[in-house]
Amino acid sequence: MIRQNQMIYLDNAATSFPKPESVCLAVDKAMREACGNPGRSGHRLSLAAGRLVEEARLLCANLFHARSANEIIFTHNATAALNLGVKGAVGPGDHIITSTLEHNSVARPLYYLEQAGAEVTKIPTDIHNGLDPDDVKRALRPNTKLVVCAHISNVTGTVSDIAAIGSFCRQNGLLFMADAAQSAGAAPIDVQSMNIDLLAFPGHKGLLGPQGTGGLYIREGVRLNPLIQGGTGSRSESLLQPEDPPEKFESGTLNTPGLAGLAAGIRFLLEQGINEIQRKENTLTKRLIEGIRDIRGIHIIGPGPDRRRGSVVSIRLDAASPGEAALMLDAAFGIAVRSGLHCASDAHRAAGTLESGGTVRISPGCMNTLEDIEACLAALRICALA
Ligand SMILES: Cc1ncc(COP(=O)(O)O)c(C=O)c1O
Repeated sequence: MIRQNQMIYLDNAATSFPKPESVCLAVDKAMREACGNPGRSGHRLSLAAGRLVEEARLLCANLFHARSANEIIFTHNATAALNLGVKGAVGPGDHIITSTLEHNSVARPLYYLEQAGAEVTKIPTDIHNGLDPDDVKRALRPNTKLVVCAHISNVTGTVSDIAAIGSFCRQNGLLFMADAAQSAGAAPIDVQSMNIDLLAFPGHKGLLGPQGTGGLYIREGVRLNPLIQGGTGSRSESLLQPEDPPEKFESGTLNTPGLAGLAAGIRFLLEQGINEIQRKENTLTKRLIEGIRDIRGIHIIGPGPDRRRGSVVSIRLDAASPGEAALMLDAAFGIAVRSGLHCASDAHRAAGTLESGGTVRISPGCMNTLEDIEACLAALRICALA
């Protein structure tokens, strides 16, 4: 078993590690004591599973300030939520506006929709400032239906002002979907005050839950077609998919142990306070960036420490390719980071790092310490000389 003290894990943008002990215990307890099929049978194991799922739903709703728990539906990851959001909302002839900082979980479904007759505008996006609401305004067409963008880029840590974009969308009758893959759990999100219609979130990154969890906030009143139909445990006499959320979007057996873990992850975050988590991650990221700036031969790709930014730091080294540098950090120093394109080729095109192998991405999380950052900086000083 890999313990935290055997490695320094700085790949939290991919998935968070380690998970709080309470998350591991909640998964174990659910597996042993509540692994009936939620919402299906009337026996105690099924009812216990159903309670765990509804607890997780309520916690997500509270975290994102949804009006009701039924505005949260569970998926297996953020990708499934993003696919449901864009494909469920848009049809042939509709126009979608997005940024050039998007992950492939947005860029690929949009390309798919474009092939199927939708129109897509990708706004060239500044890697320091994020998607500009004025550019969204300029891109507007009579058939614009949806604006979708990442809250925080997983390549550069760039923050887009989703409250300003949401406000513009609401005033103009457009749907607004935010990809909170890098911000859920790491920054406060209020779907009501930010005018977000659809919010896709992973359970396994900043929310500290197990892999295989995620979800979509769907504002009550937003019309969305489900991508799959099937058993929901309700209205089984009808061949029609139920019309009411969450069943409308949750056909098939849910990941009860995963959702029990997700609930424990959110409880952990709420105990610490999201603002406190954000403050901690900002401190770690600021120190990381300032330390890297003092190393000759290493360049930061993205906003500096004084801007509003996420805890995702991309760098390039003069002395080694991103792949070589990541390998060296792991093999020689026990430091886990990610190299390459991070599933976001558009973002690398915007950053100018597409043709040269991408970047090394260092992503501290709330379980990291300043000692981890200093150890990473010491290792980078050596890598820069390689
Ligand atoms: C910005 C962004 N969007 C979407 C995703 C997809 O998340 P998931 O792996 O939960 O599907 C990621 C994953 O890294 C991401 O960084």
